[in-house]
Amino acid sequence: MPSPLEIVGARKVFATPEGGSMTALDGVSLKLASAEFVTLLGPSGCGKTTLLRTISGFETLDDGDVLIDGTAVTQMPAHRRPVNTVFQRYALFGHMSVGRNVGYALEIAGRDKREIDTRVGEMLDLVGMSGMQQRSIAQLSGGQQQRVALARALAGKPRLLLLDEPLSALDKNLRQKMQQELKALQRELGIGFIFVTHDQEEALTMSDRIAVLAHGRIQQIGTPGALYRTPANLFTADFLGESNLLPAEVSGTAARLRDGQGFAAARRGGPATLLLRPEALCLRAPNGPALRFDGTLRETFYTGTDHQVVLDTAGHGTLRALLRADGALPDIGAAMTLYADAQGLHLIDEVLP
Ligand SMILES: Nc1ncnc2c1ncn2[C@@H]1O[C@H](COP(=O)(O)OP(=O)(O)OP(=O)(O)O)[C@@H](O)[C@H]1O
Ligand SMILES: [Mg+2]
Repeated sequence: MPSPLEIVGARKVFATPEGGSMTALDGVSLKLASAEFVTLLGPSGCGKTTLLRTISGFETLDDGDVLIDGTAVTQMPAHRRPVNTVFQRYALFGHMSVGRNVGYALEIAGRDKREIDTRVGEMLDLVGMSGMQQRSIAQLSGGQQQRVALARALAGKPRLLLLDEPLSALDKNLRQKMQQELKALQRELGIGFIFVTHDQEEALTMSDRIAVLAHGRIQQIGTPGALYRTPANLFTADFLGESNLLPAEVSGTAARLRDGQGFAAARRGGPATLLLRPEALCLRAPNGPALRFDGTLRETFYTGTDHQVVLDTAGHGTLRALLRADGALPDIGAAMTLYADAQGLHLIDEVLP
């Protein structure tokens, strides 16, 4: 089976109105293994929308190729590619009914009315809006408009669906609900989804794999778990989840923190950075080798299940920890010690600025 989508060395340089140039995509390669849910995650301006537009054909590449189901579509015009897009602002036709919005592309393609009506009905069922064909767009809530946009994008049976921050206009509750629905829909349809967000939590909860993008380059691609536990560089570590980053020095299979505490490391040598996620820190010393951090408690935030804790240490700066709410905490300003299991720690091959 050919890959539903393969991007090989995609490069895109824009001429800016200021007379300079802007490299929006700097050699991006990406291959879907199957009908995966892949998220492009990255800060504003890193090239997410540009990458989607080169897949859909609204933007031409300066170099590189796009293959869909094994066929190069690099030179194929947008309307012939088996791809559809849900845009950030939905871009619904406000003067048309829900039904006409969903069936519009089929209407343009000259399909017969009965076929269009059937397909529109199926699509509205799929997104939980059965029987709303006659409504006008203005009579819909934000979440309903979102569903119409989805139904419209799926009506032409695309092989690949591109979604450009489709949930960013929704409030938190609706957003979480739509996240689950989108994920279920993707499984049901069995087609590839390329989903864009700059919300790391959304990326972690929804994706089969995440591609972290910065400055037009993929920094790392992998499962949410792999990216969270073993980020390849400081950018990914910092962008995905909360992190404590501590300078370390490695020689052989042993690493040391600045204060001389040692731990095992699967790395050759030289300066590096230790990643300690907040939940890796705890109040009680674990059995076996541990790292120890003495400090004063600056701040605690209760989340219902956990305490988020900010500890000021003498040798390691500020550490953030996530502690189970069943343990008693000292008062703010009092001395406090946190521990981390010294086994299985993740080192990043990069030095803190
Ligand atoms: N038509 C264009 N002409 C010139 N520069 C462009 C054009 N389109 C995009 N750019 C630039 O390319 C870079 C990438 O833009 P892009 O829209 O892909 O970012 P993005 O990751 O989608 O950001 P956001 O999260 O803000 O939507 C930006 O620096 C942007 O200013
Ligand atoms: Mg964008």
